[in-house]
Amino acid sequence: MNQALLTRLFKSIEGEKDAPLMKIAFSIIEDEKRKGHSNLADKLTKILNDNLSRELQTPIFKVAKDRTFSIPVDRRYKLPLATHVEHEFLRHEMVLSPEINSKFLRIEKEYLARERLAHHGLKPRRKILLHGASGCGKSMAAERLAWDLGLPFYKVRFDTIISSYLGESASNLQNLFKSMEDYPCVLLLDEFDIIGKQRNLSSNDVGEIHRIVNILLGLLEEYEGEGILICTTNLEGSLDNALFRRFDDFIELPKPGEKEIIELLSNTFSALKLNKNIDLIDFSKKLNGMSSAVIVKIANDAAKKAIIHLNSEISLDDVNDAFEENKAINK
Ligand SMILES: Nc1ncnc2c1ncn2[C@@H]1O[C@H](COP(=O)(O)OP(=O)(O)OP(=O)(O)O)[C@@H](O)[C@H]1O
Ligand SMILES: [Mg+2]
Repeated sequence: MNQALLTRLFKSIEGEKDAPLMKIAFSIIEDEKRKGHSNLADKLTKILNDNLSRELQTPIFKVAKDRTFSIPVDRRYKLPLATHVEHEFLRHEMVLSPEINSKFLRIEKEYLARERLAHHGLKPRRKILLHGASGCGKSMAAERLAWDLGLPFYKVRFDTIISSYLGESASNLQNLFKSMEDYPCVLLLDEFDIIGKQRNLSSNDVGEIHRIVNILLGLLEEYEGEGILICTTNLEGSLDNALFRRFDDFIELPKPGEKEIIELLSNTFSALKLNKNIDLIDFSKKLNGMSSAVIVKIANDAAKKAIIHLNSEISLDDVNDAFEENKAINK
């Protein structure tokens, strides 16, 4: 079975260690080890172990699915204020250091334990700010949370919210937040500083923009909904300070370290053979300082070249050419 499918399948397996499905899953891992797929076997083991320790509660996806929800539209043009991404299209195969990964696992665990927390007057982390350089997985991490928690995923359309008549932007935002309140989902406000940044506008619209920013601050602060709000930005410095204290958690997504680079490369190359002259450890050193997105692109470019030339394996030239072509992107 292909690696992506197998990984997806494993992510959906939960239960006690001696449950029949778990036993089958562990025997598949043994089989992969015997075939020499040790990276894949390690990855699957990690997924199963995480699932073993995960709190098992009512499946949230079912709750969400049973509720009807229609995306609100702007009054003038009837354009949707958010976009829904189907569960199967959510990007979730993230490579993260254990330290960063544990921060996301903590959000997931708290969310799953939200009822127990509520009995003690506590709330799960559900207003999250993700920051860091471009291409390090901020938007992807929001999708991963929705995938892992089985929650529907929505992305706010700031283009619709802002581009319709300015006077209506604030009410658009309010409508959107109101309609999402009772609906458990992950709502992504991607690059949300688009609104915050406009605080310095010197046009006639400045008063109105001010009002929108304040409305957004208020909405973030008052949000008591059932879902998780995720804001992302790659421009931490230009963010309004007042925004920071509205969040329960900030997570910086850093550039990948050597271990993560090797994992990103191996995952991307997994379907193809690598020429024995390619030393992934050596190659990963060259990629140090690049974003995950650029590393994945380099690996994909090398793989595509090999496939197009009908080669049975990726050559050293393929990876070096892909590196040379893409190295400027990160500078
Ligand atoms: N941690 C990661 N693990 C695996 N792949 C990743 C990771 N981070 C980024 N990628 C790859 O890079 C692509 C872009 O990532 P993403 O859109 O999440 O970056 P971003 O931080 O939101 O960037 P931007 O600030 O430009 O919006 C993903 O589709 C994926 O292929
Ligand atoms: Mg992004």
